[in-house]
Amino acid sequence: MEREEREPMVVFDEVVKVYRATQSLLRRSRGEVRALDGVSFAIQKGEIFALVGESGSGKTTCGRLLVHLESPSSGRVLFQGQDLATLRGRSLREFRRRVQMIFQDPYQSLNPQLTVFQTVVEPLVVQRWGSHEDREQRVVEALEEVGLRPARDFMFRYPHQLSGGQRQRVAIARAMILEPQLVVADEPVSMLDASIQAQLLNMLLELKERHSLTLLFITHDLASARYLADRICVIYKGRIMEQGPTDLVIENPLHPYTKALLRAVPTVDRRKEELPPPACPVDSFLAPKEAACPFYSRCPDCTSRCMEKEAPLAEVEKDHYSACFLHYG
Ligand SMILES: Nc1ncnc2c1ncn2[C@@H]1O[C@H](COP(=O)(O)OP(=O)(O)O)[C@@H](O)[C@H]1O
Ligand SMILES: [Mg+2]
Repeated sequence: MEREEREPMVVFDEVVKVYRATQSLLRRSRGEVRALDGVSFAIQKGEIFALVGESGSGKTTCGRLLVHLESPSSGRVLFQGQDLATLRGRSLREFRRRVQMIFQDPYQSLNPQLTVFQTVVEPLVVQRWGSHEDREQRVVEALEEVGLRPARDFMFRYPHQLSGGQRQRVAIARAMILEPQLVVADEPVSMLDASIQAQLLNMLLELKERHSLTLLFITHDLASARYLADRICVIYKGRIMEQGPTDLVIENPLHPYTKALLRAVPTVDRRKEELPPPACPVDSFLAPKEAACPFYSRCPDCTSRCMEKEAPLAEVEKDHYSACFLHYG
């Protein structure tokens, strides 16, 4: 079967993640936040898969589940065919070596009390890798590879003595030091200046090529997803709205939500349009069902059907999926 030719590196299988809300986060009547509400996708070895959506859509939750910082409420997350929930002892340790995460905020993700050397060497120490000299050599290589050259000028500095871009380079060196197979990059450049963003995205591309990485790239910014990704998955309120090869999603967006996100991308001669788009044209005294399309209240194409139930993801053209009744005629 064609489907079995390449086993995906990552599979999300109907993943649900429910958080019990604290008072300030109170959402639904039961006091729960459904951060992910039945999310399924697969990432192939060697690809850059972008997860795109506005703040609060569940992107970081996907990343945290994938690196096994958290577990799904239901559904499964598989890495190389293995359910993360079954990892123990050696297999868990091996997984922690193969899969790394780069966090959004390099100001928070680095321990202010550790030098660059201590930060980057730590995963080697935890994994009991090599001798002291081997580790030092490896740290030097990793720092130089992320552009902190000469490495010895940076090794004994503390995070507060670095710029934002330099800090994120340190975080990337730390993520790369164990030669992972999969890296989850959670909005890795969104806190940085535009000029530095481009440099770091290019560096990620180079690292990806050189080390045959697979990358889950998380971003709220369709422009950077377009630049980097092979495939784009658009997520909103914990549900997948659209997914497909980058060119198709950008050139021929199917879901009204993706179209709204694209309108919000600024171009040289057009000011950024504000989200949200026009409100739902349907009578709003009808109470939406739990299963309603999460986008209905902001959707210009909303019908009463959308308040009953979200359309299932359908393959509208080859490899290009959308969850909207517009495509059901
Ligand atoms: N630890 C948590 N406790 C309670 N709610 C959470 C927690 N983490 C995330 N959430 C909620 O889950 C939803 C998705 O969050 P997140 O995955 O961080 O979204 P994104 O990364 O797309 O901004 C949000 O409504 C957020 O408030
Ligand atoms: Mg996030």
